[in-house]
Amino acid sequence: MDRDLKDYRRSYEKYFLKEENLPASPFELFTQWFKEVEDAGGVEEANAMTFSTIGVDGYPKSRIVLLKQYDERGFVFYTNYSSDKAQAIAKNANVCISFFWPNLERQVIIKGTIAKTTEEESISYYKSRPRGSQLGAWTSDQSEIITSRSILDDKLKMLEAKYEGKEIPKPPHWGGYRVSPVSIEFWQGRPNRLHDRILFSINKLTEETETKWEYVRLAP
Ligand SMILES: Cc1cc2nc3c(=O)[nH]c(=O)nc-3n(C[C@H](O)[C@H](O)[C@H](O)COP(=O)(O)O)c2cc1C
Repeated sequence: MDRDLKDYRRSYEKYFLKEENLPASPFELFTQWFKEVEDAGGVEEANAMTFSTIGVDGYPKSRIVLLKQYDERGFVFYTNYSSDKAQAIAKNANVCISFFWPNLERQVIIKGTIAKTTEEESISYYKSRPRGSQLGAWTSDQSEIITSRSILDDKLKMLEAKYEGKEIPKPPHWGGYRVSPVSIEFWQGRPNRLHDRILFSINKLTEETETKWEYVRLAP
């Protein structure tokens, strides 16, 4: 390796997080940050997020998935319901998602519980996908061991022929998950490694209580 990672150093000084500017809802702040990140440019897929589960083997595992929708109910992505991550979720619904937006020196970390979206939501999103992606969902037994690449290519060809000129139904093993947050941390890079960290946590005393978010500042 030519370059010494110890010499990689950047000072973060673009933005700051002040209590007096915070909206009451972390979703509002998320929306504001997402827009600013997109408007600033330089991040290819701002909706790419690191999604972490505790696996059935007891190890945490993270992988990237794409955020496809969010509102006060939570953050939605789509995947295979038989995949490794789905098996992890079935065992432990406590998960974490995080975003890193280097263009604005920002990180967002969301902890929450996960549940499948409704079948209607999954079908509606599946229908909006390009045909190639629709067929891909049928083609891949996500996370299973395969003996060669040609298994996928052959299966795709077979499915293309099968569904030629026809609507492709959503596979039963494919759909969405929604992460309902219990906490959302907003991290803004600042000079001298003295970053701003604001942690919103949900304060819900009973099922009937209206959801109320509270925040604290964390040391960087
Ligand atoms: C930029 C990017 C976006 C991705 N988006 C998704 C996605 O939305 N859904 C998905 O199932 N996998 C997505 N993947 C693939 C996952 O990272 C992962 O390989 C796959 O879901 C299998 O994970 P698992 O075996 O832990 O279940 C994406 C990968 C990258 C790099």
